[in-house]
Amino acid sequence: MRSTPILLLIIVLISTIYGNNVTQNYTPIVMWHGMGDSCCFPFSLGSIKKLLERSLENKVYVTSLEIGGSYVRDYESGYFIHPDKQLQDACNQIANNKILSNGFNAIGFSQGSQFLRALVQRCPAAKVKNLISLGGQHQGVYGLPNCPSLTTKSCEYFREMLNYAAYTGWVQKRLVQATYWHDPMNENLYKSKSTFLAEINNERKINQKYIDRLQKLENFVMVKFWNDTIVQPVDTQWFGFYKPGSDSETLTMEESDIYTKDRLGLKKMKEDGKIKFIAVEGNHLQIKNDWFIANIIDVYLKN
Ligand SMILES: *[C@@H]1O[C@H](CO)[C@@H](O)[C@H](O)[C@H]1NC(C)=O
Ligand SMILES: *[C@@H]1O[C@H](CO)[C@@H](O)[C@H](O)[C@H]1NC(C)=O
Repeated sequence: MRSTPILLLIIVLISTIYGNNVTQNYTPIVMWHGMGDSCCFPFSLGSIKKLLERSLENKVYVTSLEIGGSYVRDYESGYFIHPDKQLQDACNQIANNKILSNGFNAIGFSQGSQFLRALVQRCPAAKVKNLISLGGQHQGVYGLPNCPSLTTKSCEYFREMLNYAAYTGWVQKRLVQATYWHDPMNENLYKSKSTFLAEINNERKINQKYIDRLQKLENFVMVKFWNDTIVQPVDTQWFGFYKPGSDSETLTMEESDIYTKDRLGLKKMKEDGKIKFIAVEGNHLQIKNDWFIANIIDVYLKN
């Protein structure tokens, strides 16, 4: 019995030394996974976390958001938890994490990129310095030619549902990808019915807070994968999209209404040199370690 307090003390000491209590020299990093992925699969974000830690001399705190409170819910969240709910969850996690209170760098993977941008816009506790978007869909998608990791059958089913019913209320509520489905042949329908993307892109009305909070970023880095077979159009990774009324001709960010009509403050960010476009050869999220170290870690995460 008498040994219990001593044992407790030892446990507390050990966890203080070996716990998440790294001596931090570098700005903490928050990651947000894409669909068909989870916070912590060892072969995906788990290995990126290790790469970040190794490259930053183990003097950095890296966390990968787990949405929904469990491993399984987190995996499902990429398809079935509405982005508004996911954002609320992420915002609470960040507000309650002292280590992040002085700011952090953020890395989004695929749809996690637009969710992190929305987090900057909506969540005052998220003081993001550099926002790295890896294959994000900032103006949405029109087509998911290849689904990652779902069986072909359910992938086909998803695509059909998105093609024919993306803007119906119940699909918008239940399927994450519908909330950023952007049909260029039906711009007005998209603007009125998209329950997520049209709102965060200020396409219905202007939310000045969104503009102001985005301006606080030091850099908004958008990485586009040239040979992407999952995201259509590839241009959305650089905040471009199909020209309204066309499903083949595309517009760059600077040619899009969001930019020319200055709905999101992107013009000011560009003038201030905060918007960085990076292109890399390869398919969706095919990230090579050497490339990632030289172009992302060394440039944007050594602060
Ligand atoms: C880390 O450990 C130090 C003591 O070594 C302690 O003062 C500090 O509060 C700890 N930080 C966290 C985040 O646990
Ligand atoms: C990837 O796309 C780029 C740009 O379109 C092209 O130049 C390159 O040849 C492509 N690479 C592969 C492996 O298909």
